[in-house]
Amino acid sequence: MKIIARVGVILIFVGTIFFLTTCTEKAMDPNVCFNENILPIFVSKCSMSGCHSPGSRRGDFTTYEGIMRDVTAKHPLRSSVYTVISGLNPSMPPKNSAQLTTQEIFYIKAWISMGALNQSNCTVCDTTQFKFATDVQPIINNWCVGCHSTSNAGGGYDLSTYAGIVHSITSNRFLGSIKHSAGYSAMPQNGNQLSGCQISKIQSWINAGYPNN
Ligand code: HEC
Repeated sequence: MKIIARVGVILIFVGTIFFLTTCTEKAMDPNVCFNENILPIFVSKCSMSGCHSPGSRRGDFTTYEGIMRDVTAKHPLRSSVYTVISGLNPSMPPKNSAQLTTQEIFYIKAWISMGALNQSNCTVCDTTQFKFATDVQPIINNWCVGCHSTSNAGGGYDLSTYAGIVHSITSNRFLGSIKHSAGYSAMPQNGNQLSGCQISKIQSWINAGYPNN
């Protein structure tokens, strides 16, 4: 019995160490980059009109400066942008809007903990890689789905599924909108244009016949 208890204590100890080290490793993830990982979450899930759009009294979440008004660098728990989205019953985004994913909440916390810097181009983007699941869909999930989900399909376009994305391509509204061509609404609405590398990946995938790969 004693031995079993001892082994139990050792296992709990080892487990705790393992848990703590894997957590710190994740929190120090160098790939969390403001422009590529954090800003799109705020633009897509918080900046719809009537919410945190440019000029809003509730705070403009389409720019670094606007977001920083509710951030205390290095202290997520003292940053209202983090406290309202975390915990058991987060008050933001409102219940009827697209919710943040666990990974997005984690990214925001990690970014604040690491000093809430205004960095860009810290994630690698390779134009020769353009598979749907690993290259194209993550860009759309990150930058577009907050305003183009099934329950909130901006302009009637649901970009949360492969079929929905293909529909916007075949109705000939997709590329013009992300390229900011004349005659199209510039997307992401309220946000900066996608990077040249991201647009190039999407263009190559469309040229290849937009396979569901
Ligand atoms: C902050 C909310 C928001 C974000 C983020 C957003 N959209 Fe939109 N989008 C809208 C709304 C609202 C409309 C309908 C009104 C309009 O056309 O401006 C729309 C319209 C569109 C249209 C139709 C445009 C046209 O000219 O017919 C396309 C295609 C589109 N969005 C694609 C995207 C893509 C791709 C992204 C991500 C790169 C994106 N949107 C990000 C809100 C958003």
